[in-house]
Amino acid sequence: MSFEQSHWVWMNGKIVPWQNATLHVSSHALHYGSGVFEGIRCYDTALGPAIFRLPEHLERLCQSAQFYDLKIPYTSAQLDAAVCEVVRRNEFKSCYVRPIAYYGSNSLGVHPRNNPTETAIIAWPWAPFLNKNGESQGVRICISPWRKFHSTMMPTAAKACGQYINSILAVQDAQRRGFDEALLLDKHERIAEGSGENLFVVKDGRVLTNDSRHSILMGVTRDSVLQLARDNGISVETRDLQLEDLATADEAFFTGTAVEVTPISEIENHRTWPNSPGPITKKLADLYRAVTTGKDSRYHHWLRPVAG
Ligand SMILES: Cc1ncc(COP(=O)(O)O)c(C=O)c1O
Repeated sequence: MSFEQSHWVWMNGKIVPWQNATLHVSSHALHYGSGVFEGIRCYDTALGPAIFRLPEHLERLCQSAQFYDLKIPYTSAQLDAAVCEVVRRNEFKSCYVRPIAYYGSNSLGVHPRNNPTETAIIAWPWAPFLNKNGESQGVRICISPWRKFHSTMMPTAAKACGQYINSILAVQDAQRRGFDEALLLDKHERIAEGSGENLFVVKDGRVLTNDSRHSILMGVTRDSVLQLARDNGISVETRDLQLEDLATADEAFFTGTAVEVTPISEIENHRTWPNSPGPITKKLADLYRAVTTGKDSRYHHWLRPVAG
């Protein structure tokens, strides 16, 4: 990941040079994680640089803000235009886009009632990550000793800054032990999700994943992959997933904006899939790539060209 090529940031309604996009050390969000954000990708397509499922990401940003009573002083149309402007000004063809809204500086009482909302959008080139060979060969994952917080503890449907402390602990533990990524179980020991991804398993030709009852963030990529599977004759089922489902699966993969569709090749102490990616994972990864890069015109409505 590199910020070097990123020269312009949208901050509180204006485009400013990267080095001027700063916040004060007394900002509420720095101390308590009181902000919300999105992770979005812009793809190089035949329609020019285009943002994938921008309305869905902006809607989730606004819903995340509502959980924390954070009033974002811009409409979705203004944020939509701002995202496109950041990509255009930086002259990116493809990049990752990170809008963030957070409680700024005024008081450090835990209740942020008197703190202003600050809103910013940054963008930078970021190839799909996890293991560099992840997309072709699959990633090795472990079961995290950290549980995913339950939806009665924090709103798991919100993508809020402070909530990621749980993911940080899990991924630090995973990488310390030589794995690429962590899989977190929920408080009932059912599968929740990765530190920044949703999980799918493939069994007997069916694609299975869990849902909001299992304390996951409802991913936009998850939704896209479910739709692509259904539209292409692959049957899908949404239900709780146990570790046993993973251990007996024919294939497994992660989905997320950052990792796209990433096959899993090993799960600590449970299973390896030496021929990862399996055929259904590969098919869905290929379909997803065709859709995000605009090669499948049936899904052009999911792309927002930044020029238009
Ligand atoms: C905890 C968590 N789960 C799932 C996802 C996947 O969500 P999406 O597909 O919308 O990127 C993400 C990434 O945003 C995440 O951080």
